[in-house]
Amino acid sequence: MNGPRIDAEFMPMSERDVDEVAALEAGLQAFPWTRGHFSDSLGAGYSAWVLRRSGELIGFSVVMPVLDEAHLLNIGVAARCHGQGYGARLLRHAMECARLNGAVKMFLEVRPSNDRAVYLYRHFGFSQIGVRKAYYPAAVGREDALVFDKDLV
Ligand SMILES: CC(C)(COP(=O)(O)OP(=O)(O)OC[C@H]1O[C@@H](n2cnc3c(N)ncnc32)[C@H](O)[C@@H]1OP(=O)(O)O)[C@@H](O)C(=O)NCCC(=O)NCCS
Repeated sequence: MNGPRIDAEFMPMSERDVDEVAALEAGLQAFPWTRGHFSDSLGAGYSAWVLRRSGELIGFSVVMPVLDEAHLLNIGVAARCHGQGYGARLLRHAMECARLNGAVKMFLEVRPSNDRAVYLYRHFGFSQIGVRKAYYPAAVGREDALVFDKDLV
């Protein structure tokens, strides 16, 4: 039987979240960010958010502001919650925060093999502006990164 629908809430990521966020990330990526990457992002003052439902961590986003640009450094949704619209909510929220913080454009890099993420970005109007050769570590050799951007204003 379904209970009442409990909505998920955004909160700024804090040091208290970092172990849990790093554990979620480790379940998503073959070459995950470590807790140090998340902690350093907080120390640098990047815009980092967690999405929780009844306290349970659903996902996170990390955006680095550079002058009037915003770089989406990382975004993730717990594997058990994929395909339920949380990725879209996290991305929409990250774009809105960046815009409110004065960014006019958002940039990101993504592996061409990451179909779900590529789909999500295109769905939100991101378009490919370039390729960074051999940008990511891979199981064999390295993988290129697709560079996407989108105007926020
Ligand atoms: C990328 C990611 C954040 C998407 O999160 P999500 O919660 O599954 O995304 P959503 O449920 O919001 O789906 C977004 C869109 O993708 C579509 N989608 C879902 N599964 C899909 C699939 N297997 N293939 C293509 N599209 C898919 C959804 O239908 C939705 O489109 P719609 O609004 O037209 O229905 C999530 O898959 C993830 O955490 N991946 C691992 C980490 C990662 O790769 N991060 C990005 C690094 S660049």
